[in-house]
Amino acid sequence: MIVLGIETSCDETAAAVAREGPQILANAIHSQIARHGGYGGVVPEIAARAHVEILPMVVQTALLQAGLDWSAIDAVAATQGPGLPTSLAVGFQAAKALAVRLKKPFFGVHHLEAHLYSIALAPDAARSPALFPALVLLVSGGHTALALVEGPGRYRLLGQTVDDAAGEALDKGAKLMGLPYPGGPAIERAAQSGNPRAVQFPRGAVVNARRDVRVERPDCCFSFSGLKTALRYYLAEHPIEDEAGRADVAASYQAAVVDTLATQVVRALEFERPVSLGCVGGVARNSELRRTLSEVARRHGLPFFVPPMDYCTDNAAMVAALAVERLRQSDLPTSLDADIVPSWPLQVGREAC
Ligand code: KG4
Ligand code: ZN
Repeated sequence: MIVLGIETSCDETAAAVAREGPQILANAIHSQIARHGGYGGVVPEIAARAHVEILPMVVQTALLQAGLDWSAIDAVAATQGPGLPTSLAVGFQAAKALAVRLKKPFFGVHHLEAHLYSIALAPDAARSPALFPALVLLVSGGHTALALVEGPGRYRLLGQTVDDAAGEALDKGAKLMGLPYPGGPAIERAAQSGNPRAVQFPRGAVVNARRDVRVERPDCCFSFSGLKTALRYYLAEHPIEDEAGRADVAASYQAAVVDTLATQVVRALEFERPVSLGCVGGVARNSELRRTLSEVARRHGLPFFVPPMDYCTDNAAMVAALAVERLRQSDLPTSLDADIVPSWPLQVGREAC
């Protein structure tokens, strides 16, 4: 079973080919960072236009990489949501058109469910008898969630952020520190020579989330907006004077984010009994976070799975891989009348199965 997957939910134009395993036969991606860098964030209009311009070439590249022609494709999948409406629409409509042309089924994929399933793309995951149920921390620019993943597309949402996402906190924090976009990698680089204990920033491990935050465990939630505000106040009183000072602020800020995330993972491990621990999403590229969580996993006697760097940030490999599972399980394809779902939360409980 071979699936062509397309991902255009934000500013990455991506196409990939996957088969059972999951095995990724091709992964083509074009990052638009250069087009948005000057604006300090993603500009939706620029992103959508770039997707229209670049997607055909990216799809061709994926097929070439896989060494396949169109006749080998058994299904076409695309991210249906959540994401920027104009960006989502480009990949979703293109994938539907391809499915019609090829007379193959079409699958609309939930971007966050694809991220959650991406632990299966970790190099050692396929060979591991102990992958699911996995406690997975999903940390990206738009989302921060903690889920007990029981299998492809099957999960229980334990906790999530009550305000900003971890990646958003890093991106906004970087801007305040005078670092470039995207902020996460910039903070990681700056933090390398800094002292993580130089500034005591607040931790945002929420233990009593508001009732309107739909999660299974209100004591496993996160809050990052206070951290960003604390940074703003700190910088107003202590403006950055040199690179050493910037490094200390970056290291301390990064430590607050990592510490908050790890605290809630440890809390969840007090009552859940997963067979592995995973971390996915763009912020999972962060080496300090990986180091901290692999230590948590080691202390709990669990294997730790994190996808290769290219499958942490937005990519189509995770979209294609999840659709392969849906095809394999004979799930109903998505109707060609279906539309994008720009605001599509993770489901609470088992109804998402
Ligand atoms: O998953 P992703 O590509 O896009 C979303 O779906 O949001 O995640 C992007 C986020 C950005 O906030 C970026 O700053 C962060 O991932 N990021 C990192 C690193 N690389 C990317 N954060 C911390 N350390 C990194 N090395
Ligand atoms: Zn993402």
